[in-house]
Amino acid sequence: MKKKFISVTLALALGLSLTACGNNGGGNAPADNKEETQKPAADDAGDDADAGEDAGSEDAAPSGDVANKDKPLVWFNRQPSNSSTGELDSAALNFNANTYYVGFDANQGAELQGTMVKEYIEAHIDEIDRNGDGTIGYVLAIGDIGHNDSIARTRGVRKALGTGVDKDGSINSDPVGTNTDGTATVVQDGEIEVGGKKYVVRELASQEMKNPQGATWDAATAGNAIGTWSSSFGDQIDVVVSNNDGMGMSMFNAWSNSNKVPTFGYDANSDAVAAIAEGYGGTISQHADVQAYLTLRVLRNALDGVDIDTGIGTADEAGNVLTDDVYVYREEERSYYALNVAVTADNYQDFTDSTKIYDPVSNQLDESSHAKKKVWLNIYNSGDNFLGSTYQPLLQNYDDILNLDVEYIAGDGQTESNITNRLAEPKNYDAFAINMVKTDNAASYTSLLSQ
Ligand code: BGC
Repeated sequence: MKKKFISVTLALALGLSLTACGNNGGGNAPADNKEETQKPAADDAGDDADAGEDAGSEDAAPSGDVANKDKPLVWFNRQPSNSSTGELDSAALNFNANTYYVGFDANQGAELQGTMVKEYIEAHIDEIDRNGDGTIGYVLAIGDIGHNDSIARTRGVRKALGTGVDKDGSINSDPVGTNTDGTATVVQDGEIEVGGKKYVVRELASQEMKNPQGATWDAATAGNAIGTWSSSFGDQIDVVVSNNDGMGMSMFNAWSNSNKVPTFGYDANSDAVAAIAEGYGGTISQHADVQAYLTLRVLRNALDGVDIDTGIGTADEAGNVLTDDVYVYREEERSYYALNVAVTADNYQDFTDSTKIYDPVSNQLDESSHAKKKVWLNIYNSGDNFLGSTYQPLLQNYDDILNLDVEYIAGDGQTESNITNRLAEPKNYDAFAINMVKTDNAASYTSLLSQ
C-alpha cells in the first residue's frame, strides 16, 4: 500500500497519466482466425513482391491481408529519439495506429541510482575514503553518450553527488576524461557532509565505453578502463559507478572486488545481484520482467484487435494484470515505462533470478481465442549483458504464455544493416519488435515496412 502510494505520488509529480488508455486506432489488426494461421503466407496486397524463404517456424503463418505498414510494431529498450538532443522521434512512435515503445522511467531510475550511491557513501563514511585525503573519488563508466537512458544515469549520479554542472538547462552528461586534480569544467567538485564533517566528492574520470568496432555499453572496454585508471590513480578511487551492470561487473571483476571498492551498476542482472554478497555496492532493477511482458503484450493485444490495456491495466480473462506501482503509460509518447527499484544489501535476496517472470502476468492465454502469431524481434547486440542475460530469457518465457511464435534476431551492436538485412521479408510476420543500434535510426526499419 505504501509502495503504491509513493509511486502514485511520483507519477503525479511527473505529470504522468497512470492509466493505460485504450487504443482506439484499431481496425488494422489481422483477423485472429485460427484456420488462417495454419495456412501458408498468402500474398500481401502488393507489398513485398519477392517471395522468399520463411526463416521462422512452421507453427504459425501470418495473415495475408494486412499490409506490413499496418502491422503492430513495438520499439523497446532504445526509444526512437535524436541522439544529440534526446528529442523523441514522434514519426517513428506514431508509425501506425498500433505502434508503441516499451522501456522504463529513465529519470526515476537515474535518481534512484544517484541516491543509492550517495546513501552508501554516507553510511560508510568511516572507511570509504581509502587514502584519507578527505576527497571521495569516483570513476564513472558511461554506456552510450547518445542513448537517453545512459544520459539520464550519468546526470542522476552527478546530481546526487553534487558534481553536475549546468549545460543548456540540464546537467552536462559529457564524459570528463580524466579529472584527478578537479580542474575539469564538464563536472565540478561536490561536497558531502556527514556527522559535521565535510568531504569533497570528485569525479576522477569517466568515459564512454565504446569498443574500436563501435559497440557501446562495452563491458570489456570498461574492464580495460579500470585497469588504466587504477594503475595511474588507484589509491584515489573510493567508489566505482557504472551506467549498467555489464560494465560494472567487468570493473568489479577486474579490480574493485579485490581492492574492496564498492561498485554500483544498473539492471539487476543475476550475476550482479549475486555479487552484492561479495561487496558489489548495488544496482537498480528496471523491472525487466514487466518490460518484457509489455513488449509482447502490446503486440498480442493489437493482433487480437482488443483494447490495448487488456492484461495490462485491465485484467484479461486469464487474470493477467499489472498494477500502477510497476509501470506508467504516457499516451502522448505512445510509451510504456516500467518503474525502477533499488537493489542493495538490504533486499537483494528478492532479486536473485533476473529471468523469472512477473507473477501477476504469468497466466497462459488460451490458444483457441489467441491464435499463434508470428513476431520478428531483434536484439541490437548479441553481446549486451542486460539484453542477453535478462531481457531475452524473459521474452522467451512470455512468448509461450502469449502464444507468440517469436523469431529472435541478434545484431552485432555496430551497424543497423546487420539487422535490417534480416528483415527482408516482413510479409512473413504478423508483428515486429525492434531494438535499434542507434536511437536515430528508426527509419531504417520503418522504410522496410513501408515498401
Ligand atoms: C541497459 C543496458 C543496456 C542498454 C542497451 C539499457 O537499458 O541498462 O544494460 O546495455 O539498455 O540498449
